[in-house]
Amino acid sequence: MNEPKRVFIKTYGCQMNVYDSGRIVDALGVAGYEEVLSAETADLIILNTCHIREKAAEKVYSEIGRLRRFKTPETGRPVTIGIAGCVAQAEGKEILRRAPEVDFVVGPQNYHRLPALVHDAGNGRKIVDTDFPAEEKFDHLPKTTAARIKLRGVTAFLTVQEGCDKFCSFCVVPYTRGAEFSRPVAAILAEARDLVAAGVREITLLGQNVNAYHGADADGSDCNLGALLYQLAEIDGLARLRYMTSHPRDMDDRLIAAHRDLDIVMPYLHLPVQSGSDHILEKMNRRHGRTAYFELVDKIREARPGLALSSDFIVGFPGETDADFEDTMDLIEKVGFAQAYSFKYSPRPGTPAADIDEQVPEPVKAERLLRLQSVLGEQTRRFNESFRGQSMQVLLEKPGRMPGQLVGRSPWLQAVQVDAPESLLGTLADVVIEDVGGYSLFARLATPGQTSLAWDGERGLRSEVPA
Ligand code: 5AD
Ligand code: SF4
Repeated sequence: MNEPKRVFIKTYGCQMNVYDSGRIVDALGVAGYEEVLSAETADLIILNTCHIREKAAEKVYSEIGRLRRFKTPETGRPVTIGIAGCVAQAEGKEILRRAPEVDFVVGPQNYHRLPALVHDAGNGRKIVDTDFPAEEKFDHLPKTTAARIKLRGVTAFLTVQEGCDKFCSFCVVPYTRGAEFSRPVAAILAEARDLVAAGVREITLLGQNVNAYHGADADGSDCNLGALLYQLAEIDGLARLRYMTSHPRDMDDRLIAAHRDLDIVMPYLHLPVQSGSDHILEKMNRRHGRTAYFELVDKIREARPGLALSSDFIVGFPGETDADFEDTMDLIEKVGFAQAYSFKYSPRPGTPAADIDEQVPEPVKAERLLRLQSVLGEQTRRFNESFRGQSMQVLLEKPGRMPGQLVGRSPWLQAVQVDAPESLLGTLADVVIEDVGGYSLFARLATPGQTSLAWDGERGLRSEVPA
């Protein structure tokens, strides 16, 4: 038998790319590749790139520069280099022009064609595959094997929707990932069941605009994200569901009801608002104002008390005045976020906002970002601090920082270091928070040696772990 060939993938950017990298490994598995965690021993190196903010392309070119040494004859191996993801989609053949060591460029819609592509590239052909094929890539990507799922642990991403039709004026996603597409319900349920059968306890549904999901149900009717959550909640052995990233305009009543009715849906929601100024929200083409955001947050919190929110913010969007920025600070104060990501506006060529004249000077952006992050950081600190002495359930995912510790996630996505034996890996444990650090909470088991719900991967059943 031939020795397996080795592929190393370096992933940049969002969770969608993390998921895609997994599927790339699945696709290449069929062609006899196995994943390795270092470029040193790889026959094939793939950079799965992100294009959301500035300098992304430049970073990719300098990373390619660092990979150049693997292409020298001294390695004794013919190493193939491929560029995938959103920079690949956006730059296309420009990459081959600027970086001759690259063998192929493949866009996010074309990963199912990778085995053929890699084969051709290995024979010395330079390839760019970045069109948006009519065929559906999910239908052509091989299923993940149980062994590979087990390697990846008890939490998993599952892409249910791709692309975006919103066209926020700052964003490249509608151009790099294309129009919205939702996978059919049956395919999602099947993938979720396979994940759970292989030991996965927590699934995060992914989509660039995940709550715009509207896939075909078994009877051909339209299923939205709320209805999909109710169906997924029926899967025996699945303990937690999350989804991201959502747009405020698509938080419909069914989805909010799912937060009310389903304990399996975690009480944590990433709901980017970007700005607190009506004027800027309009220029961003977000299609809602600040009042609508406040009303929505109230409605969600009423449906699910204790739900925590996270958000993305952009400061220094073209035309943002001091007053606009103060509106954002005011919104943050009023809503209160558990977590947030914030960025300086970065003009993306080809997006409408890049052509607006009133660009905000860099030092102003920097100063606003600092102020915003300091308030958001303080909110995160207060949020975490509020759990001191409280009990909660933690899904124990991996060995922790210290011997005798396991680390897992709280319902609110906090990292929690728990003093617990390795035998509890992969289980949901009831813990008490004893200390709060900068990046993690620290906890002990509520009843040492006992967890409330354990997963028996062999039998596929929930069972109690004896004390
Ligand atoms: N400049 C700055 N931030 C951006 N984001 C998207 N496009 C840009 C841009 N041009 C941020 C948004 C989005 C997150 C994923 O990245 O806040 O929600
Ligand atoms: Fe980009 Fe807006 Fe679509 Fe989000 S909703 S991916 S920010 S265009």
